[in-house]
Amino acid sequence: MSETHPVIAIDGPAASGKSSVARKIAARLGWTYVNTGNMYRAMTHCVLSRGLSLSDSPAIGILAAEVPLSLEVQDGNKVVTVIDHDCPSDEVLNSEEVNRSVSYVAQVPEVRERLVAEQRALAKRGPVVMEGRDIGSVVFPATPLKLYIDASEEVRARRRAVQGHADSVGLRDKIDSTRKTAPLVIPDGAVVIDSSEIGLNEVVDAACEALTQRGVSFT
Ligand code: DC
Repeated sequence: MSETHPVIAIDGPAASGKSSVARKIAARLGWTYVNTGNMYRAMTHCVLSRGLSLSDSPAIGILAAEVPLSLEVQDGNKVVTVIDHDCPSDEVLNSEEVNRSVSYVAQVPEVRERLVAEQRALAKRGPVVMEGRDIGSVVFPATPLKLYIDASEEVRARRRAVQGHADSVGLRDKIDSTRKTAPLVIPDGAVVIDSSEIGLNEVVDAACEALTQRGVSFT
């Protein structure tokens, strides 16, 4: 097997603050930042654009296995998904339609297989900070650098509302946590940080301290 670079795996439920933390840590380290939620969102946009029904898992599975897909680095260290020759904007990825649909698409095993293979391939290119739902549990279970960022459902719903989104984080979490393939769990060995009562800088400080204890050097 070819070399895999260091991976910081950051998992947690919707709107727990994991993206902000992951972005900041990646910037401090100069490592590549990968938001895997956006990969599932890009696949969902493709499913919706093709007019597939969200309940047609076999058709979604065939699409996921066959559609042209590549990951490209933008703005120095941010990975974006180009799927079916389209690189959807952040606005499209975070549209209400995608918010409502993504948990259904993310349940399809072939979708996960395709995207997990791409995520693992990225760590062969260089060190990464990767955030999602199954990064420490399934994608890189052997990494010693695992964080789980949590927050109460009430706080997370408030954050989504402030961002202008009306989607139900509770429903999305329920689907993400109870699905058969790679459900959201606290990965073995992960350091859990609850962001409900503390600000982003404090969460980042706690995360950096935990990573420093595990040998990551922030110079
Ligand atoms: O992080 P996010 O809220 O943008 O993720 C969108 C959806 O994608 C989330 O509801 C579940 C799914 N997802 C997943 O199943 N596995 C991941 N590693 C990342 C996201």
